[in-house]
Amino acid sequence: MTGRLSRYEENKILVCLRVLRREISACESGLGQREMEMSNDLVARLAEINKRFGYIPRGEVEKLARELKMPAAKIFGVATFYSLFSVAPRGKHVVRFCADAPCHVAGGRAVYDAIRATLQLEPGQTSADGQWTFEMVSCLGICGVGPVMMVDDEVYGNVTPERVAEILTAERWRQMDANET
Ligand code: FES
Repeated sequence: MTGRLSRYEENKILVCLRVLRREISACESGLGQREMEMSNDLVARLAEINKRFGYIPRGEVEKLARELKMPAAKIFGVATFYSLFSVAPRGKHVVRFCADAPCHVAGGRAVYDAIRATLQLEPGQTSADGQWTFEMVSCLGICGVGPVMMVDDEVYGNVTPERVAEILTAERWRQMDANET
């Protein structure tokens, strides 16, 4: 194995950086300087909670509010601002599909239909077994390889309806879960 990143790995890193830059820039324009300073620590704490529970429970927001002497509504506002956080329980795996126009014209509609049919979910829903959550997102910054979808932090480009079933093979994700435990 060489030290060079594959095109796929480069794309994954670029997507993460673009999403992060966009969220930071939107955050900077929406918050004042003092709020920005406070939010750095707050975002790190929220990320920890989101990782531990898979989402940010209301009770944890209230606990954090008491600890940081900050209104819970403000913390809730920050938690809902970042698309990578959730304030509602999510499935074990989150499937995100890019809903913006360049992906749409590249065949996104058929891929979207294939995801819905495979998961038997509409956007915003979580499967009854808690395995999957399906979400629509805006441009992930790699329109050149649209249609684009993500499963957790894995990014998939040039997705076709036929590839959806292969990507979402339940057995494959069960094995990944088993390897994590
Ligand atoms: S429009 Fe889908 S990645 Fe840009």
